[in-house]
Amino acid sequence: MSAVVERLRELAQIGRQEYGIDRALATPAERAARKWFVTLARARNYALTQDPLGNLFARRDGTRAGAPPILVGSHLDTVPTGGPYDGAYGVVAALCALEMLDDRNAQTEHSVEAVAWAGEEGGRFPFGCLGSSAFAGIIEMQRALALVDSEGTSLAQALASKEGGLLDDVPARNGTRVAAYLELHVEQGPVLEAEGVVLGIVTAIAGQRRYRVTVKGESGHAGTVPMAQRSDALCGAADIILAVERAATAQEKTVATAGRIAVEPNAPNVIPMRAVFSLDIRSTVDAAIDAVESALRDSAADVHARRRLHTSIERLESRQPVPMDPKLRDCIGRAIDSIGQRAINVPSGAGHDARCLAQIAPTAMIFVPSVGGRSHVPDEETKPEDLEVGVEALAASIAEADKFVV
Ligand code: GLV
Ligand code: MN
Ligand code: MN
Repeated sequence: MSAVVERLRELAQIGRQEYGIDRALATPAERAARKWFVTLARARNYALTQDPLGNLFARRDGTRAGAPPILVGSHLDTVPTGGPYDGAYGVVAALCALEMLDDRNAQTEHSVEAVAWAGEEGGRFPFGCLGSSAFAGIIEMQRALALVDSEGTSLAQALASKEGGLLDDVPARNGTRVAAYLELHVEQGPVLEAEGVVLGIVTAIAGQRRYRVTVKGESGHAGTVPMAQRSDALCGAADIILAVERAATAQEKTVATAGRIAVEPNAPNVIPMRAVFSLDIRSTVDAAIDAVESALRDSAADVHARRRLHTSIERLESRQPVPMDPKLRDCIGRAIDSIGQRAINVPSGAGHDARCLAQIAPTAMIFVPSVGGRSHVPDEETKPEDLEVGVEALAASIAEADKFVV
């Protein structure tokens, strides 16, 4: 079995639950994954550093003193019912690519660092691509550390804890200069499989906005309050969610998801007094996200008038669509030619740390197929031989990028 396949099987045991893998940021499982990464990197004498958010870097030295590094990576955290490849593949593949360069005695001018970005999924603390956003200056470090999870624990507290915190024996990182960023990821969609191609070069990452919507009504007895006299917060939330669904369906290449909802008091015979739900809207066209957001606001006004409910809409995060760097994409294209493979261009509907790194350095991504296009589910699958081709393509892309970036 190849190193990348064997390691991904090993990593999939960390945080394994009855249904999928759960490695939320700064939990014991996610910390154990970081430690696992450190052990592999130390075996090759790569220099390890971490920053205050838990972003973790393993450096293979280059030959030109003072040259900024090429970063290559992805994330180790998962959604609560995650599969073995989303994020994990890009981190493991980055280490494997560095080892491949070692084994071939290939020198690079730039240092190359395998990176595990902290908290890409944004499930525990309400901000996606958190580690890479802080690294790229998109969110201030202090604001990131002040984010609070649903239990009231701040990220600063979680990262100071023994269970989920920073690693004791890894020195602090200095500096955020980057020559280029490359990320290898499973596609998480159906295009490559349908086209019968093993490699995709990402054209752009879709825009995304995340919200927290709160609907407040009035509680009461489920058996006695007549329907016309109710202010049922959950019914109002349902109206809003369905209005958003209609609005997203009316736009091209636009999706919207209310993936989490909490209802109070959450009892079978009490009218819901409060409903709080998450909303995630994405599109490759920013104006389409605007249109869905307008529908959200109109619907909130409508349930206020019709159902006598109070609503508040908090926009937690807003990301424009991000194109990948054309010259770095060409580098990847040449690298893929050099290993005798073929690639097609594909957009990314999913978010990735690459969209943050693109704000500070030339950035590009490579995709490999996802069986059935499925991801964020335990049965996420990519064929072992495709995982291996992806690592070859990544190593070749690093060598090619090393010649091109300054
Ligand atoms: C991350 O996987 C995201 O796109 O939400
Ligand atoms: Mn991912
Ligand atoms: Mn994901």
